[in-house]
Amino acid sequence: MKRLKYGIVGAGFVGPHHIEAVRRLGFVEIAALADANSDLARRKAAQLFVPRAYGSYEELIADPAIDVVDIATPTWLHHRIALAAIAARKHVIVDKPMATTAAQAREMLEAAHEASVVNAITFNYRYFPVVQQARVMIHRGDVGQVRFVHGHYMQDWLLYETDFSWRLEPDKAGPACVAGDAGAHWFDLAQHLTGLRVESVLADLTTAIKIRKRPVAEWREAFAENSGGATENFTVMVDDLSSVLLRFNNGAVGNFFGCQLCAGHKNDLRIEVNGSRHSLAWEQERPGELWIGRRGASNETFLKDPALLDPSVRHYAALPGGHNEAWPDAFRNLMRNVLTFIAEGRDPASADGELFPTFATGYRVAAIVDALVRSQRQGSHWVEVDYR
Ligand SMILES: NC(=O)c1ccc[n+]([C@@H]2O[C@H](COP(=O)([O-])OP(=O)(O)OC[C@H]3O[C@@H](n4cnc5c(N)ncnc54)[C@H](O)[C@@H]3O)[C@@H](O)[C@H]2O)c1
Repeated sequence: MKRLKYGIVGAGFVGPHHIEAVRRLGFVEIAALADANSDLARRKAAQLFVPRAYGSYEELIADPAIDVVDIATPTWLHHRIALAAIAARKHVIVDKPMATTAAQAREMLEAAHEASVVNAITFNYRYFPVVQQARVMIHRGDVGQVRFVHGHYMQDWLLYETDFSWRLEPDKAGPACVAGDAGAHWFDLAQHLTGLRVESVLADLTTAIKIRKRPVAEWREAFAENSGGATENFTVMVDDLSSVLLRFNNGAVGNFFGCQLCAGHKNDLRIEVNGSRHSLAWEQERPGELWIGRRGASNETFLKDPALLDPSVRHYAALPGGHNEAWPDAFRNLMRNVLTFIAEGRDPASADGELFPTFATGYRVAAIVDALVRSQRQGSHWVEVDYR
């Protein structure tokens, strides 16, 4: 297997976690990091022990040693950086959401196919061991016919009017905030778990805090504390509270709500699937537990343990039962799937979106978010998801 050279663009909140996950693999060299300018890049590269620092993504992409470009910048930059990396025939990993619009995502997908480069989106919540177990159980029929898929993604980091992030600016994050950001993870998870496709949606995207205090001088990384500097009033045009109804292609229905201003909820992602026989539910903050709901027998909590996992997904647990594995480990599992595929020189066209989410997966989620925004603009009516 080839030893890969990896470069990352953007080392704010999530970028360092990408690096840590990749570093744990062993067969990938973290060769370079790029950030918004040379000073930032040098400082972050030193903190993260990355040997080469570039002050622009163009310089990193031009480095002939780099095989894979991983994009962890704010969302509005994903499209242009991915297209530049693809033009240089680099394999590309992009954090979610793939782009600010479905049209941009479609363009990235077509470019990656044309250049025949491996393309991946980091929908990391799929790769918790018990989530993979749930998927196996649904696909082998344990829950019966899926009828209802519901859950939420709740956080509180936008609780105060002084909380601000580029995620609230439509030109930087797209026309949906909670539904496009947190929602993207949940919609992917719902489709990955069940194997179903969302066909139509009805959205009520609400802005509870309509005026926020935007810092005047500083660029604030996501989730960074308010530094107390000068602010200006900013009119919020995107949702901080979202309720969504879904219809799936097998006739099942769904229900999702998301918020980033519900005090006490930190990274509270939950999903439940109700079928004609059993129910399954998973909560991200209880990462090693899968709830199995039954009518004619006791409910059960399936605990993460490689000895109990289906053999096909056992490799997603690196530690024995009783040893907790969580968010960073799921990220490592995803990066292992993508980077092994690249290192083995496998055909990008053979990536089916199951081993790792591809640009096709990211595009389908972008199409759902696009439909949510259309639904909202049409007065919260049902609209079809346009997967053209
Ligand atoms: N998969 C997940 O669970 C997860 C979690 C958080 C964020 N994300 C996604 O990751 C992306 C980054 O989010 P974040 O929270 O880390 O944001 P952030 O604001 O904390 O960090 C962004 C980084 O990009 C850098 N940057 C800005 N402009 C740049 C440019 N022109 N060239 C190079 N670098 C530039 C910033 O300096 C910063 O280091 C977003 O798309 C977000 O939705 C995914």
